[in-house]
Amino acid sequence: MRRMVAENRLHPADLILPAFVREGISEPVAISAMPGVQQHTLETLRKAAVEAVEAGVAGIMLFGVPADEKKDAAGTAGTDPDGILQVALREVRGEVGDDLVIMSDLCLDEYTDHGHCGVLDADGRVDNDATLERYAEMAQVQADAGAHVVGTSGMMDGQVGVVRDALDTIGKEDVSILAYAVKYSSAFYGPFREAVGSALRGDRKTYQQDPANLKESMRELALDLEEGADMVMVKPAGPYLDVLAKVAEAVDVPVAAYQISGEYAMIEAAAERGWIDRDKAIMESLVGIKRAGANMILTYWATEVARWVGRER
Ligand code: PBG
Repeated sequence: MRRMVAENRLHPADLILPAFVREGISEPVAISAMPGVQQHTLETLRKAAVEAVEAGVAGIMLFGVPADEKKDAAGTAGTDPDGILQVALREVRGEVGDDLVIMSDLCLDEYTDHGHCGVLDADGRVDNDATLERYAEMAQVQADAGAHVVGTSGMMDGQVGVVRDALDTIGKEDVSILAYAVKYSSAFYGPFREAVGSALRGDRKTYQQDPANLKESMRELALDLEEGADMVMVKPAGPYLDVLAKVAEAVDVPVAAYQISGEYAMIEAAAERGWIDRDKAIMESLVGIKRAGANMILTYWATEVARWVGRER
């Protein structure tokens, strides 16, 4: 009866799998702060994409990890048509076609040697408008490589409008924008920095949002919608369920939530110590995000959970 009267339930189609692909490795590399998650080779990435399709997962969000020597101040590898993310997009699209919504992270931090999400000015500060030009180019190479959706996660002002124009200019009107509208400057991104081998020193407080603020997030949200966001995201998810609920109530576009690396790591770590029931904690964390109003959830457990809940499909 509990099952019958449940107000929310997870479905495989709610889930999106974030995945890392690293250049120049012949075997996948484990990410120590995210047990069970790895930096994929192109081959294991294709396999993971096929497994996601088989489990009924809706989409995949790809992050490229270039070889160390390819990182530079401008994040050139991010706009190289033969950069690792673009190669991965082509391969995954070739493998699964339209069976999975293929999304690409549109941000420079994976490609810059200083680890910031944008290019820097002479004083070492992130240069918003110079970064927008880089994002426009990134959007075009990612769309050309086969992305169905680009995920603007860099948090520069004006990024959604610039990316929309850049896509339309090359005839990619059908490529959608998932705007990281509400993205807090969070300590819970810690394990992700290992996952993408980020060199970042310092923080992203000048462009990501203050965890104390809610009005600021609603303002960011309104701007992204005005600029043409097709879908919006709240990130992280767990510590920001109030924000997610408010966003879901405020907008009439699909709302995504990103259960990020630190949220994943906490549950895995506590479970490893036998302090919590892993599977139940995972399900509770996800149904909580759904209850708060997410239509789509990015989670590193996507394929595993899709298999669990898929039995009820
Ligand atoms: C930016 C980006 C980050 C994450 C996704 N996209 C890192 C950041 O903003 O510092 C974090 C995802 C996670 O922690 O799981 N490219």
